[in-house]
Amino acid sequence: PVDDRIDALLARMTVEEKLGQLQQLSWAFATGPGNPDNKKVENAARAGRLGSVLNMFGAEESNRLQRIAVEESRLGIPLLFGLDVIHGCLTTFPVPLAQAASFDPAVAERDGEVSAQEARSNGVHWTFSPMMDVTHEPRWGRIAESCGEDPYLTARFAAAKVRGYQGEDLSAPDRVAACAKHFAAYGGAEGGRDYNTVDVSESRLRNLYLPPFRAALDAGAATVMAAFNTVSGVPAHGNGHLLTEILKEEWEFDGVVVSDWNGVQELIAHGFAADPADAARLALDAGLDLEMVSTTLADHGKQLLKECRIPQERLDDAVTRVLLLKSALGLFDRPYVKEAAAVAAPTKQTRAAARAAAARSMVLLKNDKGTLPLDKAAASIAVVGPFADSADLLGTWTFPLAQEKFRSGKVLDAVREAAGGAEVTYARGVDPAGEDTSGIGEAVAAAEAAEVTIVVVGEPPAISGEAAVRSELGLPGGQEKLIEAIAETGRPFVVVLVNGRPLTIGDWLDEAPAVLEAWHPGIEAGHAIADVLFGTVGPGGKLPVSFPRSVGQLPVHYNHESTGRPYAADNKYTSKYLDLPPGPQFPFGHGLGYTTFAVGGPRLSTTRIDADALHRGDTVEVAVAVRNTGKRTGDEVVQLYVHDLAASIAQPVRRLRGFRRVTLEPGESRTVRFRLGAEDLGFWTNDPKGELRVEPGPIDVYAGNTSTTKAKATLTIG
Ligand code: IFM
Repeated sequence: PVDDRIDALLARMTVEEKLGQLQQLSWAFATGPGNPDNKKVENAARAGRLGSVLNMFGAEESNRLQRIAVEESRLGIPLLFGLDVIHGCLTTFPVPLAQAASFDPAVAERDGEVSAQEARSNGVHWTFSPMMDVTHEPRWGRIAESCGEDPYLTARFAAAKVRGYQGEDLSAPDRVAACAKHFAAYGGAEGGRDYNTVDVSESRLRNLYLPPFRAALDAGAATVMAAFNTVSGVPAHGNGHLLTEILKEEWEFDGVVVSDWNGVQELIAHGFAADPADAARLALDAGLDLEMVSTTLADHGKQLLKECRIPQERLDDAVTRVLLLKSALGLFDRPYVKEAAAVAAPTKQTRAAARAAAARSMVLLKNDKGTLPLDKAAASIAVVGPFADSADLLGTWTFPLAQEKFRSGKVLDAVREAAGGAEVTYARGVDPAGEDTSGIGEAVAAAEAAEVTIVVVGEPPAISGEAAVRSELGLPGGQEKLIEAIAETGRPFVVVLVNGRPLTIGDWLDEAPAVLEAWHPGIEAGHAIADVLFGTVGPGGKLPVSFPRSVGQLPVHYNHESTGRPYAADNKYTSKYLDLPPGPQFPFGHGLGYTTFAVGGPRLSTTRIDADALHRGDTVEVAVAVRNTGKRTGDEVVQLYVHDLAASIAQPVRRLRGFRRVTLEPGESRTVRFRLGAEDLGFWTNDPKGELRVEPGPIDVYAGNTSTTKAKATLTIG
């Protein structure tokens, strides 16, 4: 973006004012260590020593602070207000991991649009979202904020969310700037321990972690946030290879790179910077533009400049990027929001969008003998479990006001509404932490007296998200005991899981006739779960992440690389655990429906293509036929995977390269078409300058409705 005023402004700015533009401080609440100091924020704004504020929400409050910056500071440069609007603002959508399970990027786009409107009208210009950290670690609490284990799926959702937030014009009153985070490889933290070390080859970095960032930037993401972790020894906040060589030079990113909370200061704890001045120098030098919460640049920048330890051009470049973002957001022309237009509450339409998104995100893991859908005309239904009567199903990273005023609708209430004629009984059984199991007897009595029982179990949202890492992945406390006790009644029951990460599902899986993965569904949790349980909406989601059999099996993911000794049951000397069957409990891409589908094999437009032609932009078409073979209308997700059989760098055994969710009536058929190009058939090498290589040889192309599909065709690259 070009704004002639920026150069003129830059020419008038003192060093302190320039450094001020590179400072972001927190307002009302903390989303990291330490407490915000509102007086300090106001004083810095008045002195022209502040560029941005995070954790600010509310038209009146943001206008009041903005007025200080615009009307009382020497140059009147407006502040930029940022907030973590991750999966909704007032209207909370399902957690991002759930949204990914919809295999429908339009879900994320709609969330982005609704969030942007609610946030911007309340003074928020910028959201720290979408998070696009691919991860193979379900212990990591932030998996709930991610799209799971696959870079292609994550990339499609990242781009859609950016479009939803930003639209065509950032200065519009219902749009916010997006932030592609966390750059990069944060999802690779060792053992899933938050903020931990990541050691990764250039090729894995580029093939696994970077594609979603590239997609988000191609969709126009205005900003990028650095990650807390090291990448092969160098903290991301001081990593010039990532922030400058790849992001700003190779990808020509001209937006703002913001630090994470205190991330610049933490270069000292990493053992990378000697002191705060050194941290400021290293971060700016690496390509960081805006410092969140810590104040190393503001405190030491002037001295560093004087000593020629930071170049004037880099400082001016960072300031220019921040000012250009403000200009693109229209803040120089319209720094204030219209207080009368502030959205105060979710509307009927936004609730309907959240309800549809949540229902679309659910994954039917198991359904023996058509246990689901439930009959709305049932005479009696028992609803039991710690989350059956809970309004705490919004999920991680929900906005404080939403937690107070716009909590989740309850499953119990929604079942009562949906099955109007049934006698609906309720017993909690165990508490959400699963510690108090004294109510199990009451739950069993309710199940014994009912035609069918709905057991709602899972994780309290507080144990997923940032700094919420678990070493065990089972249902907390005595929740499994509750399921086992219900199973012992011999009466029909279904288990509904509400959680923010893949769980290890115990022996109760064999006994449960049906299991619905509902994730943390957001504000319309109750209605959306009832919609799917009673078949008003057929489940059509697929797992965006593998569900492990046990924690000891981690990491377990569909896109693992080939080994020299792949699993073979009858050969001891192969890659496996002695005490577990191979593969996860439920694989990536798995999900059932209330109807059945036949997905045909992949049909290629050609079985041979030249590598050069692919590099020039040619593609191969893959056609896949899908037919609803059951008796109900339903959704299926057609999935396309590739595997390069012989490459100079060992390749994943499968890589998702296409998916389409379709709705078909009984007997209806459709042919879904995909196109495979250089990026789909090639891979990034270990060249730090970035080389996409398409090598000659055969590539298996698989199509189906799960990642374990066997149907394939072979394409040869000449
Ligand atoms: O945006 C977040 C980030 O994801 C984690 N640390 C705090 C930031 C601001 O709240």
